[in-house]
Order: sequence, then C-alpha cells, then structure tokens
Amino acid sequence: MYILGIETSCDETSCAVLKNNRILSNSTLSSAQVYKKYGGVVPEIASRRQYEYIHRVFQDALQKAHIRGCDIDVIGVVQGPGLVGSLLVGLAFAKALSFSLAKPYLGVNHLYAHLYAPFFSKHTPEFPFLGYVISGGHTHLYLVKDFDTIVLAGKTRDDAAGEVFDKVARAYHLGYPGGPAVERIFDKRYKDRYSFKCGKFLGGLDTSFSGIKTSVVYTKEALEKSRNRPLTLQEKAAILSSFQEAVVTALADTALKAAEVYRIKTIVCGGGVTANRRLREVLHAKARSRGLTVFFPELRLCADNAANAAGLAYRLYQKGYRSSFNEGVYSTVLS
Ligand code: KG4
Ligand code: ZN
Repeated sequence: MYILGIETSCDETSCAVLKNNRILSNSTLSSAQVYKKYGGVVPEIASRRQYEYIHRVFQDALQKAHIRGCDIDVIGVVQGPGLVGSLLVGLAFAKALSFSLAKPYLGVNHLYAHLYAPFFSKHTPEFPFLGYVISGGHTHLYLVKDFDTIVLAGKTRDDAAGEVFDKVARAYHLGYPGGPAVERIFDKRYKDRYSFKCGKFLGGLDTSFSGIKTSVVYTKEALEKSRNRPLTLQEKAAILSSFQEAVVTALADTALKAAEVYRIKTIVCGGGVTANRRLREVLHAKARSRGLTVFFPELRLCADNAANAAGLAYRLYQKGYRSSFNEGVYSTVLS
C-alpha cells in the first residue's frame, strides 16, 4: 500500500510517500530563508509560499518514490494545529487529490505526527509511553496509550521552548531559526556560568519559558550598558550556553517527573528542538540512571515533515479511521 503524506502547517511544504511503513521519499521545501530579516515566520507570506510550492513538492515526492499519482492508496494530511492559511493549502490539496483519485484521506494532528517519527526505526517504542512534543509552537507532554488514545499531561503556560530559542537568538543577532544558532555557539565550559532558571509549577507538569527569555535578554542589555560596547561572540556564547543548559535541563526534568507520576518507563520525544544534541545527551543520561528508555527521532525527522504525517495516517487507517470532505482545518480524524 502507498501512503502519501502532506504537511503544510508552518513554513515547510512537505510531501512524502511510504510503502506501508517504509519511507520511499520525503520532499521538503522550506521558506525559512525569507524570515531571516523578520526574525520569525510571517504567516501571510508562509501561506502564499505553501500555495506556490505544493504542486512542485508533490511531483518531486512521487518522482523520488518512483510512483505515479494513481498508485496512491491513502492520503494523510496535517490538519492542525498550525498556521491556518498554511494548513488550508495542504488540506485543500489533499481533499482535491482524494476526490479525483477516489482514495480516502485522513486529517491528522500535527503534534501526534511528531511523536510517530521514532516508529520508522527498527526498534520502536512500546505503548503506553510519555510523548514530549518540543517544537517552535508547542511544548506538550502527553500520555499515549495508542495513537488514538492520547491525553494531555502538561504543557508550557506561555512560550514554547523552540520559540524561546528563536526569540533569544533574535535578540542576540544570531539569525533565524534560533535553535540551531544557539546550539552552534554552545560551549560546555560555560554551561553553568550564569544561573538561569525556567518556570515550574508546584505538583504539576506544566512549564514556563518566558521568564528565562526575558532574563537572558536583560542580561545582554545590562552587560552592554555596563561595558559600554556590544558583547563579543565569546561573551554571547557564555550566556547562551548557560541558557541552553537551563532549558534542556528543565525539559529533561519535566519528562522524568512525568514518568514518575504516571509510572511509565518509556519516553518518546519529537519536534524541532529534539534535534538538539545537548538535550539528547542530558535526557538520555538522566533516564538511564532511572531505568527509563528514551526514543528520539532520526535527525531528518525532527522538524516538520510529511513522512511523520503519512506514518500516523497509515496507523489510523489500519484502525479504520477516515476523514470526510466537510471537515475543516483543525478538525482531525480523531475529533
Ligand atoms: O517542529 P518544528 O520544525 O516546527 C514546529 O512545529 O514548530 O520546530 C521548529 C523549532 C524552531 O523553534 C527551531 O529554533 C527549533 O525547532 N530547533 C531547535 C534546533 N533545531 C531546530 N532548537 C534547539 N536546538 C536545535 N538544534
Ligand atoms: Zn511541528
């Protein structure tokens, strides 16, 4: 069976083809370059780019998978959450294909799709697991009994972890996206130089990242004022290494606390921020010492991509789920 995946939730236009659970192609065109001068995604531009790119990306995915449109058996599309204008392009494309090919389509949840990424590996997670989606728009912790039985266990009360990387990097003139820029400048020797802290909520699994963002931005301003000059790259590295360490430690500690609360031995991570090597290192080390297993996606599957959506759609299709044409953006096959 061939499954076509479509993901247009933000600034990536992505189409993938799976043969059952095997990825044959995963073509992605990003408009991220455009936003460097704005320091973040501009929704109106992003949706226009989706519209320009979608057909090209679709053709590319078919070509790389060596199939034709008429070979597609099922279509899986990210239906939300995300930028409404961008989502609309993928959804309209999926519906049109579904109608013209007379093949079913399934609208899937963007965040659950991130958690599907490790299911392409040889060793896959066992249910139930804790799913931690750490991305530019979300920092959501789930209890996952199966992909159609998912309960929210905790989330950020303000900024998402990736959003904070982006905003801090912008204030430090490091460009967009901020996560990879901060990771590049990270130096372990400076990880404890400044004592930044992320917000926690007593007894719960919610997090807060806006306080640390403000604190890191003010630190730069205060130092520049007292020294009467801009910070050097090394001075920035010292602050941002401590910042990254505080964020990854807070994320790892929250995941471990959730595992304890729910008495679960498996943690599955997904989303753009999970590409961060230090996060992987810290979480693996902490989990190992408590006998927990952590699954991270392959690096190419961390950020938004259509293979994750196709994989999740395939799983739900096998369980009998289908979407109907009168469903709009944000109402997925499960809602
Ligand atoms: O999952 P994603 O591609 O899009 C959303 O669904 O939001 O995540 C994008 C986010 C951006 O905020 C980006 O700065 C962050 O992931 N990111 C990273 C790294 N690579 C991407 N954050 C920290 N370290 C990285 N290596
Ligand atoms: Zn995402």
